[in-house]
Amino acid sequence: MAFDIDMIKKVYAQMAERVDKARDVVGKPLTLSEKILYNHLWDGMPTKAFTRGKDYVDFAPDRIACQDATAQMALLQFMQAGKKNVAVPTTVHCDHLIQAKQGAKADLKHANETSSEVFNFLESVSNKYGIGFWAPGAGIIHQVVLENYAFPGGMMIGTDSHTVNAGGLGMVAIGVGGADAVDVMAGMAWELKFPKLIGVRLTGKLSGWTAPKDVILKVAEILTAKGGTGAIVEYFGPGATAMSCTGKGTICNMGAEIGATTSTFGYDESMERYLRATERADVADAANKVKEYLTADPEVYANPEQYFDQVIEINLSELGPLLNGPFTPDLSTEVGTDMTEKATKNEWPLQVEWGLIGSCTNSSYEDLSRASSIAQQGIDKGLKIKSELGINPGSEQVRYTAERDGILGIFEDLGAKIFTNACGPCIGQWARYEDPKNAPKNSIVHSFNRNFAKRADGNPNTHAFVASPELTAAIAFAGRLDFNPMTDVLINENGEEVRFDEPTGWELPPKGFAVEENGYVAPMEDGSGVEVKVASDSERLQLLTPFEPIKDEDLSNVKLLIKAFGKCTTDHISMAGPWLRYRGHLDNISNNCLIGAVNAFNMKTNFVKNQLDGDYGGVPDTQREYKKNGIYSIVVGDHNYGEGSSREHAAMEPRHLGVAAVLVKSFARIHETNLKKQGMLGLTFANEADYDKIQEDDTFNFVDISEFAPDKPLTIEVTHADGSTDTIVANHTYNEAQIDWYREGSALNLIKKQNK
Ligand code: F3S
Repeated sequence: MAFDIDMIKKVYAQMAERVDKARDVVGKPLTLSEKILYNHLWDGMPTKAFTRGKDYVDFAPDRIACQDATAQMALLQFMQAGKKNVAVPTTVHCDHLIQAKQGAKADLKHANETSSEVFNFLESVSNKYGIGFWAPGAGIIHQVVLENYAFPGGMMIGTDSHTVNAGGLGMVAIGVGGADAVDVMAGMAWELKFPKLIGVRLTGKLSGWTAPKDVILKVAEILTAKGGTGAIVEYFGPGATAMSCTGKGTICNMGAEIGATTSTFGYDESMERYLRATERADVADAANKVKEYLTADPEVYANPEQYFDQVIEINLSELGPLLNGPFTPDLSTEVGTDMTEKATKNEWPLQVEWGLIGSCTNSSYEDLSRASSIAQQGIDKGLKIKSELGINPGSEQVRYTAERDGILGIFEDLGAKIFTNACGPCIGQWARYEDPKNAPKNSIVHSFNRNFAKRADGNPNTHAFVASPELTAAIAFAGRLDFNPMTDVLINENGEEVRFDEPTGWELPPKGFAVEENGYVAPMEDGSGVEVKVASDSERLQLLTPFEPIKDEDLSNVKLLIKAFGKCTTDHISMAGPWLRYRGHLDNISNNCLIGAVNAFNMKTNFVKNQLDGDYGGVPDTQREYKKNGIYSIVVGDHNYGEGSSREHAAMEPRHLGVAAVLVKSFARIHETNLKKQGMLGLTFANEADYDKIQEDDTFNFVDISEFAPDKPLTIEVTHADGSTDTIVANHTYNEAQIDWYREGSALNLIKKQNK
């Protein structure tokens, strides 16, 4: 069904030769991260050493995973590639579109009613192109991947930032935008800047109330929310090997919260135990044969300062439980220290309204069993929960096993709500309020990864704190943020003072995992006859039409759509929030195109001049007018245009509406590549001061576009309203292949043509 042992064996078979060669060309012992990266070079055998943080390198990932929100546009694009099947094993997971409200059964039914067209679309495309499909309720993408697909030494990409979770099983797993996933599905290379390497040595051993979650909360405190940017974090040391595989997954998962490219651990016995428990003994056997290649060379961990760009050491025996937040995951408070003062000073509500356990970060069997040990103690000691409690199991396998073993029953005895095996409150899919914008100030504690304002429930006044599942359970009994379960007493229903003992739990289910219906739907052997249905009047899905190439002659009368002032991120270009609903419908979601960008001429958002009639209006409406009249437009921007996410909608929307070029002081690189992939011009001012020359009524003529070539700047003649002109030199970074994308209308058009 699930994993592909032949593919894994192939990865292992080539490993020794490639890694040994890499050690030669690099000229020193290798970290685990380097071994995995050099074993996955698109060009095969390593021939040169890459410079960390500088060189862009083509890789060949082993797998792809997509979640339901991002898979829609990814698959719509893949359908354009004209391929019969995906080029590498791929799975789709329905987990983001299920709202938490009443409890698993009713919520799943509701999701299946309200999002059936999206689920049916994803299932039929999966069936057609050889993609494994995990139905709504099967589980959260990263837990399902860990249970079924992740393998030590592998490389995968996924259209979700917490794809990095698979590092818990020794992978280099990286979150990407849909456009990158489509390239790999279509058989192309995947490009990544060779990451820097941060080593984290874990000494000592976790005990008592301290959990793997506290390790990453501590790392977040040390490195801050941006400290891992552009780097792989590699954990090692005795504290690492003493930890469970799913605990390692938690740590890697939240590497996304420090901006890390990914995080990983070397292969060890905890991973072997996990592989065998999840019925992958053949993977464990294969991994055991190449063990020395699935961890760093011994010299590296002996002298990490020589081999990593940065090294951090944490003594787990001295680490205490942490409560991080609110509003940012790197703001730490050690339990039992100064939470009362901090909360009072900052006016954080001390009373906790909800405790939430689960999400892809902390929903393993071990997590649920440790949290349930606290729940059981509370019941035995005559306590009731003071906060409401919600549980999201990570997968049907975990849920079924936890139910069989009485774990879920303990939570239910306390009155907890068991939500669907899905993201739910972690992604704002939580029907907590009728009107979240005007909901009261309050605090919640959860074991998820992100705690930005509005993330869980849409209420900007919810102060969300992040903690381990066991601490979350204890706080639910106390109902207070400043509760210290190691020392504080609670009063039970008989008026007696009671205290919690340390949590206990099972790394893996003593009776083994079990599941009846895991929710997996295998694709047909030959899906060519499968018809993908999208209703013509659907507001959520729309089949894509290939973009027409932009003709040279159309670039002589290009109008300015907007000159964006200051920061213009992918959120300004294609907002999230309510627009998530239209992620699979390019025309509908294009109604948010650039509506968050500030117009440099009036400092307003979504208010630009229509040069055809002189009226002011919204950006998408104005652009649609230009398109109706057969006129292309240009967007002008400031520095780091398109920073933020790798969302391909931010490039597809302007392209769909008829923007031909984006001319800026500088680009965020991923967005620049996305523009290229969609067959547009992504250009930078050769002279930044030329930004100031652009006026509101300008018309642009790309005088030498017919000579578009690598390393040759383009010349643009800008005509102002008074008839005067300026000549602007625009740089670009297109290589030959990318110019072919432009000439064909998009990268996918080119792939399709090459297929024929
Ligand atoms: Fe889902 Fe939250 Fe993880 S949205 S994939 S549970 S980070």
